[in-house]
Amino acid sequence: MRPLVTVSYAQTLDGRLATVGGSSRWISSDDSLRFTHKLRASHDAVIVGAGTARRDDPELTVRHGIEGDDPLRVVVDSSLETPPSAKVLTLGAAKGTILAATEMASDERNDELAALGTKILRLPGDSDGRVDLHSLMAELRRFGVETAMVEGGATLITSLLRERIVDRVAVCIAPKILGRGIEAVGDLGIHDLDRCVALENVSLTTYGPDIILEADLEYCDDAEESE
Ligand SMILES: NC(=O)c1ccc[n+]([C@@H]2O[C@H](COP(=O)([O-])OP(=O)(O)OC[C@H]3O[C@@H](n4cnc5c(N)ncnc54)[C@H](OP(=O)(O)O)[C@@H]3O)[C@@H](O)[C@H]2O)c1
Repeated sequence: MRPLVTVSYAQTLDGRLATVGGSSRWISSDDSLRFTHKLRASHDAVIVGAGTARRDDPELTVRHGIEGDDPLRVVVDSSLETPPSAKVLTLGAAKGTILAATEMASDERNDELAALGTKILRLPGDSDGRVDLHSLMAELRRFGVETAMVEGGATLITSLLRERIVDRVAVCIAPKILGRGIEAVGDLGIHDLDRCVALENVSLTTYGPDIILEADLEYCDDAEESE
């Protein structure tokens, strides 16, 4: 049992989430930002990776004139490196913030961050020593999270896709080209076009100059894959 997971991010026409230096503010237009905040308000939880929490210091609340409740905020942060000054930890939101770490994170760091009122989840590590995302999703479901929106970054999105934990995407495509930069999705180990993750029930909506693509994901059958 896990929540329904929607991945949402803004990319350039050539599939970049950010510049080589990691700057991503703002790839999308103000109209698209309002769409993002509306999507936040319609989810029980919003999840980002530790890289995004450190680089962008997002608040992850519902703003930009959108009415609705702030979702539970979750940072996937194996070793609890999120600084105590991070907005997700210092700026209040009704449902608070969870840091999802592994057992390897230091107890001292745990106590320092817990003192801020942050809930810390200690979860099993995956084969790379990072948070096991299946355990995280199962735990969030136990907390009553039925719908989760993942707002990046690239490393977390790639891991979730590899683990087939993404059900839907809502991707903003901005009319910009960056060339080199951080690619939205990294290696998924797919070498045959027939094995790609397919998008179904695709809808395209324009928001100002941007296009938002929403779709369900269909993974290729495991049985077929091993044939
Ligand atoms: N355009 C957009 O919509 C958008 C949205 C978000 C971010 N961004 C950009 O993306 C960049 C950040 O992306 P990023 O790839 O560096 O970082 P990220 O995906 O936000 O975070 C990755 C980090 O999460 C932690 N993590 C823990 N368990 C994990 C697991 N099982 N799988 C994957 N990650 C796990 C790891 O750090 P630990 O090992 O320390 O736990 C990992 O390095 C920034 O430049 C930001 O501006 C753009």
